[in-house]
Amino acid sequence: MELQSLTGAAHTLQTFGIASVVFVLLWFLPRIRLEARLRKLPAYVYEDSGKKTATTYMTSAKRIYIAGYNKFKNHVFRISTNESIDTVVVPVKFLPELRKLPDSVLSFPEAVADLLHTKYTKISTDEPISAHVAKADLTPALARLNPIIDEEVEQAMAEEMPPCEDWTEVYIYMKLVNAVAKVSGRVFVGPELCRNKEYLDAAANYTLDLISAQRKISEIKPWQRPFLAPRLKEVKQLRIREEKAKEILEPVVNARREAEKNDPTYKKPDDMLQWLMNRGSDYGRDSIESLAKVQLGLIFAAIHTTTLTATNILYTMAERTEYIQPIREEIRQAMADNDGVMTYRALQQMEKLDSFMKETMRFYPPGFTSFNRKVLRGFTLSNGQYIPAGVTIEVPSHAVYQDSSNYPDGDVFDGYRFYKLRQQGGAQNHARNQFVTTNETNLAFGYGRHACPGRFFASNEIKMMLARTLLEYDFKLPEGVTERYPNQEFGRSTSPDAAKPLLFKKVKA
Ligand code: HEM
Ligand SMILES: *[C@@H]1O[C@H](CO)[C@@H](O)[C@H](O)[C@H]1NC(C)=O
Ligand SMILES: *[C@@H]1O[C@H](CO)[C@@H](O)[C@H](O)[C@H]1NC(C)=O
Ligand SMILES: *[C@@H]1O[C@H](CO)[C@@H](O)[C@H](O)[C@H]1NC(C)=O
Repeated sequence: MELQSLTGAAHTLQTFGIASVVFVLLWFLPRIRLEARLRKLPAYVYEDSGKKTATTYMTSAKRIYIAGYNKFKNHVFRISTNESIDTVVVPVKFLPELRKLPDSVLSFPEAVADLLHTKYTKISTDEPISAHVAKADLTPALARLNPIIDEEVEQAMAEEMPPCEDWTEVYIYMKLVNAVAKVSGRVFVGPELCRNKEYLDAAANYTLDLISAQRKISEIKPWQRPFLAPRLKEVKQLRIREEKAKEILEPVVNARREAEKNDPTYKKPDDMLQWLMNRGSDYGRDSIESLAKVQLGLIFAAIHTTTLTATNILYTMAERTEYIQPIREEIRQAMADNDGVMTYRALQQMEKLDSFMKETMRFYPPGFTSFNRKVLRGFTLSNGQYIPAGVTIEVPSHAVYQDSSNYPDGDVFDGYRFYKLRQQGGAQNHARNQFVTTNETNLAFGYGRHACPGRFFASNEIKMMLARTLLEYDFKLPEGVTERYPNQEFGRSTSPDAAKPLLFKKVKA
């Protein structure tokens, strides 16, 4: 008996021994090689009064990227982040050569997968069908869909906003997230579902649940994650969301497929769900399960990003109320020129509003870095620096936005900055300075092949929400609040403080 358990223990030990050898070979050796290569790249060291660097990164990433940018300017450097020690910061001057590298060398989905711990959160980051449908179906449909989108915007704002006969406190982030869920829902899943309570719950809350799970997993040591991560209540909540998404979509998808088969007069709906169904077989995304996954991915990409951008704009304008009246006049004029309808052309005419949106994004981008890509195969930059496989690269986009050699008086907020550039004339000036423009110094929507394909829709949606708000309300910071609410920072990401009110009052006609 005793002998048996001893042999058992020895056996376990032996198995454990073999396991550790395998572990060392598979993980440790490549790691040593990688670190040797990494050491050839200069490091930006940021140590504050003995605090752990990972914690410093979580609270001070903005400062760290700006200091690194100023120190290294046109050279690659690496920093230790809370997520990994393998982050390599690349100057934007290399972007034109980097954009030419194929996905098999520089991978966008793999970089996002690492950040989001997809092994446990299970969000699919590699769904080329989403970007394809956004580019090929959604963006070209905007001129046609705008009246429907605007109708949803008006209805959602009416439902969300209190009467505001006198100055009224409104927690605007909460209102906007619900409005964005409804409006995007009309485009993503169509009229059957966009007012469904469970769909709206998923749309407004899936991203928040995912981020909570991501943060919790980050706090677990990597080698403990396979055991502990699946047991987190935040991770279990995501499994519930996935099941719910399938349940919500199933009857609608089945009904549409039935109608298509049996009803010769059936007209296919004009929404993302239908476009995904139309192209599903090209991408092996026909099953309800995969359609639900793609929809959750879209919700993640679209809802929170749009809401926080709109909130940033309102927080900024509430501090700078001198912009309200001139921009409202511009919106009224654009509406009058287009028979009172918020057409594509009317939105195009709102150049001051577009400029204010863009300047807010320059000051308060969704992240301090951009072009996050995982290096799958090592490569050499034109300056001779070698970037090894296994690291993640990024560009210091916020530092670029603040640099006065890119944007004169870069530290000064000028809501009409891009409007003035567009007024200088020339088709190029006009095209280059729009909210949706992306280029080497203009990186809030990313860059290159994977630059946000939803930005044209996002721009329209945000403009309509702001235009409706400006036409109907005056707004300002609450009494006693003299400065814009500071944004919150978590490592490389940043967002407005969702728990703050603004004061709103109906404009008298
Ligand atoms: C203001 C709101 C938004 C912001 C700030 C934003 C920002 C971004 C950024 C930074 C990227 C990564 C680009 C890169 O690294 O090069 C991205 C990708 C993406 N975005 Fe957006 N986005 C917004 C709205 C939307 C909307 C409304 C949709 C859906 C209609 C959407 C769909 C996507 C998709 C599918 C990708 C992945 C593209 C790919 O895999 O090639 N986004 N977005
Ligand atoms: C999101 O979750 C919160 C908290 O569970 C809930 O009160 C809210 O109603 C949800 N949002 C929507 C739109 O259902
Ligand atoms: C990341 O930072 C937080 C503190 O902000 C800390 O609790 C957590 O353990 C850190 N995670 C890693 C992997 O270092
Ligand atoms: C890049 O974008 C900015 C802002 O939209 C614009 O002012 C600048 O002219 C653009 N640069 C190029 C080279 O297109």
